[in-house]
Amino acid sequence: MPGDKSISHRAAMIAALADGGSRISNFSTGADCAATLSCLAQLGVGITRIADEVLIQGAGANGLRAPNAPLDCGNSGTTIRLLAGILAGQRFESTLTGDESLRSRPLQRIIEPLAMMGARVSADGGRAPLTIEGRRPLQAISYELLVASAQVKSCILLAGLNANGRTKVTENFPTRDHSERMLRWFGVSVETSAGEREDSRTSAVDGPVHFTAREVSVPGDISSAGYFIAAAALLPDSSIEITNVGVNPTRTLYLEQLRAWGFDIEIGNTRDKSNEPVGTVRAQSSPGKAVADSRTPISLRSSLVPQLIDELPLLAVAGSQIEGGIEIRDAAELRVKESDRIAATAANLRAMGVEVEEFEDGLRVAGPAKLRGAAIDPHGDHRIAMAFTVAGLIAAGETEIKDAECVAISFPEFFDLLESVIE
Ligand code: S3P
Repeated sequence: MPGDKSISHRAAMIAALADGGSRISNFSTGADCAATLSCLAQLGVGITRIADEVLIQGAGANGLRAPNAPLDCGNSGTTIRLLAGILAGQRFESTLTGDESLRSRPLQRIIEPLAMMGARVSADGGRAPLTIEGRRPLQAISYELLVASAQVKSCILLAGLNANGRTKVTENFPTRDHSERMLRWFGVSVETSAGEREDSRTSAVDGPVHFTAREVSVPGDISSAGYFIAAAALLPDSSIEITNVGVNPTRTLYLEQLRAWGFDIEIGNTRDKSNEPVGTVRAQSSPGKAVADSRTPISLRSSLVPQLIDELPLLAVAGSQIEGGIEIRDAAELRVKESDRIAATAANLRAMGVEVEEFEDGLRVAGPAKLRGAAIDPHGDHRIAMAFTVAGLIAAGETEIKDAECVAISFPEFFDLLESVIE
């Protein structure tokens, strides 16, 4: 798999703040991470890219310079939210913007904590374009996340690098911890402790911090791998082995879910690479086994949701093949992703002949259903396009995905690679 998108963003941004040159190998090939690199270049960071290797000449703690135009984050929520945290602690003003989808996504969740830290942040109606008048030093804060979001947590921790004192972020449901891991890899001390409530966890950084460049090797993207794993599990007589893929426990919960359904999925050869666990994932079809014990749908709720967030459309597709189906709740966040993923998943599953009930915070998918090929509208959303490509593989008849090139947001090689493993 090409490099993990979440980890690539963080490697580039943190290397940009380090003293000296960092080499990042297996950098994500997706458009989102290219947007991060071009924003960093506009901020004066030296960037050389040769295929999937990126050399970053870090600007150091004080070296970013004011951009002479708005920074275009494209379709990437991670770029806009994490960069905002970095820009809040600079002595200049900058504006972050993006495509139509990004300009419709909520930013109040980062505006509030960054304002508490002393930056002046403005955005019309809490949407991009976002203008940040940075301040240095920022003021350290203790903040409890109102939405379970790794992007918001990371934004505050990155701002904390330029704050005086200890910045603490508490999350009540665990989210991916790549920022904490990448900061530690660059030698920044990040303390993580269990919070008072079950599942709650606090991460803390002490600012201001100086750190030096490091080599980073990015693990393969476990979310991209998910489409291949689900296809191998659902198609008869199939198997797949994916090596060198990230198996960070905050990202692999969807594998547990596939296993709970009876699919044959194994993780092996686990080791650490640049402070991230990597391993080999094997999946094979297990017809007849993938049947839940009862007819009540498998229910995915609350604390589990943030750790499965990007795989929920794919799990909804897989759930349509399971006795009892699947119910996903407490997942209103899906409505403010690259598209409204609840509406897009429900409409496309219905187009394929599946009975779906939609809720404000999720959906219930009946199963098992015989899928029929259909015209799929992914609404420009890469994850919807890929999840419904898997659906198209198991459906009877032809499926056509509109604007399928949107997969390039995270995974430009998706269709070529898929074709190469299908007989
Ligand atoms: C990401 C976090 C998730 C995820 C997104 C990438 C990250 O968003 O959906 O694709 O890299 O931190 P939220 O943390 O806002 O839910």
